[in-house]
Amino acid sequence: MTAVADEADLQLAFDSTIAHNDRIEPRDWMPEDYRKTLVRQIAQHAHSEIIGMQPEGNWIGRAPSLRRKAILLAKVQDEAGHGLYLYSACETLGVSREELTLKLMSGAQKYSSIFNYPTLSYADVGTIGWLVDGAAICNQVPLCRTSYGPYGRAMIRVCKEESFHQRQGYELLMTMMRGTDAQREMVQESVDRFWWPALMMFGPPDGDSPNTERSMAWGIKRHTNDELRQRMVDMTVPQAEKLGVTLPDPDIRWNEERQSYDFGEVDWDEFWAVVKGNGPCNEQRLAHRRKAYDDGAWVREAAMAYAAREETAR
Ligand SMILES: [Fe+2]
Ligand SMILES: [Fe+2]
Repeated sequence: MTAVADEADLQLAFDSTIAHNDRIEPRDWMPEDYRKTLVRQIAQHAHSEIIGMQPEGNWIGRAPSLRRKAILLAKVQDEAGHGLYLYSACETLGVSREELTLKLMSGAQKYSSIFNYPTLSYADVGTIGWLVDGAAICNQVPLCRTSYGPYGRAMIRVCKEESFHQRQGYELLMTMMRGTDAQREMVQESVDRFWWPALMMFGPPDGDSPNTERSMAWGIKRHTNDELRQRMVDMTVPQAEKLGVTLPDPDIRWNEERQSYDFGEVDWDEFWAVVKGNGPCNEQRLAHRRKAYDDGAWVREAAMAYAAREETAR
């Protein structure tokens, strides 16, 4: 049998695994473009978890009570854990965590645009939990069924923790809404800032998302960006009503025919500006990550020296 025929057979086996909704595992043959797409998506996801620790980590030292501090600490630590699972999933595709970290720091790989917005009040901790983790859940629940095994399995655990994150955010906002006028204003102001950037988390509209179709054919993505964005709006509008906050979009209304909420147009110019590096905090986030990496150099060196010594002692 020739090499070409071999490759055709492998492709057939891969296609049949995808068609049966079975999983591709690290040792299975996969098309190079499938591997590259997965590396790009999982790396971006991992980087988002790690960079996403910064906006909320900013408030750990200023939490209003011991209880709030314990909740926030646990949440931010969970995000670090999510980043590590995802870097591990990515390593099964043949790239090292070191390589991914360097690509994040050089700007060659991206993270979610949402983390380039600042956190200006403690209400932002609640709003991020409610809206940002809420959007993450909409995105990630379908990824539990993604075609690549290690990614799907990582998502199952991540989703359980994201649902805790969303609840703690909603509970914090509910507590503030039952408090003073100043607290209610703080919540509304925070929701006004985060609503649109949260909707941008699903990525560009389907017409401008060239990779979506192929990712869906490969079973990596299960829904389009616009479908997921609609799901987020439908989930959130009733929650906002219950909370007593106004979402900053006058076009939100129930559409009886579609059995969904209509909503206004996202400012895509703002989205692309942030993606291209011109959001309010892009530079700050990367500078902080680079400093943390440099500050940790001695730990990596010590670990390597220890491993080398153990090796020679054997
Ligand atoms: Fe997370
Ligand atoms: Fe989270």
